[in-house]
Amino acid sequence: MNILLFLLVVTGSALFWRADISPYFTPLAQRPCACDRCVFEDDSLFMQGFGKFAEPFLSVNHNLSEDNFNRWKNLLGERRNFSAYRETVKRMFQLVPARAHVEASSPDRCRTCAVVGNSGNLMKSNYRPLIDSQDVVIRMNRGRTKGFEADVGTKTTHHVMYPESAVGLDNTTRLVLFPFKIKDLHWVTKALSTGFSGRKSNFKANKDLVMVLNPAFIKYVHDEWLQKKGSYPSTGFMTLVLALNICDEVHVFGYGADSDGNWSHYFEKLKNKKLKTGAHPGGEEYKMILELAKHQILKFYTGWR
Ligand code: C5P
Repeated sequence: MNILLFLLVVTGSALFWRADISPYFTPLAQRPCACDRCVFEDDSLFMQGFGKFAEPFLSVNHNLSEDNFNRWKNLLGERRNFSAYRETVKRMFQLVPARAHVEASSPDRCRTCAVVGNSGNLMKSNYRPLIDSQDVVIRMNRGRTKGFEADVGTKTTHHVMYPESAVGLDNTTRLVLFPFKIKDLHWVTKALSTGFSGRKSNFKANKDLVMVLNPAFIKYVHDEWLQKKGSYPSTGFMTLVLALNICDEVHVFGYGADSDGNWSHYFEKLKNKKLKTGAHPGGEEYKMILELAKHQILKFYTGWR
């Protein structure tokens, strides 16, 4: 009986106080994430026109329109047609997951990501703690950790590649395929199933952790983020924009040419002294990274120069 009375009093006073204060109490607008600052939360002039891309990854249910296919095809010089593309994608999804796994955003979570490019400026940087402490660590192409741990860290959750830049992965790392041609989609299916006849492949990755970039994303980055400069965006720049789409806080390492303007790597000596930034608009990309850092959309670590 006493307990009942106690509960009645507590509920009654709670209702009284709520009714009393509610006219003065406006709930705070819900934030998209729990970080100090969430990507795209800021609606400054600078970020206008850089909205989130709806479907950054291909899924079994997402059909690239023929129009978007043709735009991608023309940008990258693919020769084969839309039905060849559709057939290849269909076969690929008989092997790889129907939907790419992306941690969902939530007001009570802060998804932090490190994006690690391959620049020589990582040498002597001692960035290991800054990189390894992020939830997601994205590396790319021939980027490696063995022998460079103090500067580039040890953790890799995602590894971006295409056939020509592929490296074998352990069983827990997500393979993020960037498709530059239809053959690349065919490659991932073959490499992770039967292998290629006549040639023993020692390429290894977990087929259940494959994620495939939506081809339309490549065109989107070239058009919207780089105003169509250069032949097409670099893997590193696209990875960075991808991170802005799937993370709440983005930390960027390993970007920037050497003093001769070449995209040299931390893991090897530069052979081609006339490399510059290849077919990519490296200068524009770098300027954009600096702008994003200036507006605190991401954190840029320029390494050791
Ligand atoms: O050379 P690679 O393509 O493997 O490097 C990965 C990415 O890292 C590049 O696409 C580029 O965006 C970035 N990079 C850079 N400066 C370098 C080397 C690479 O910004 N010196």
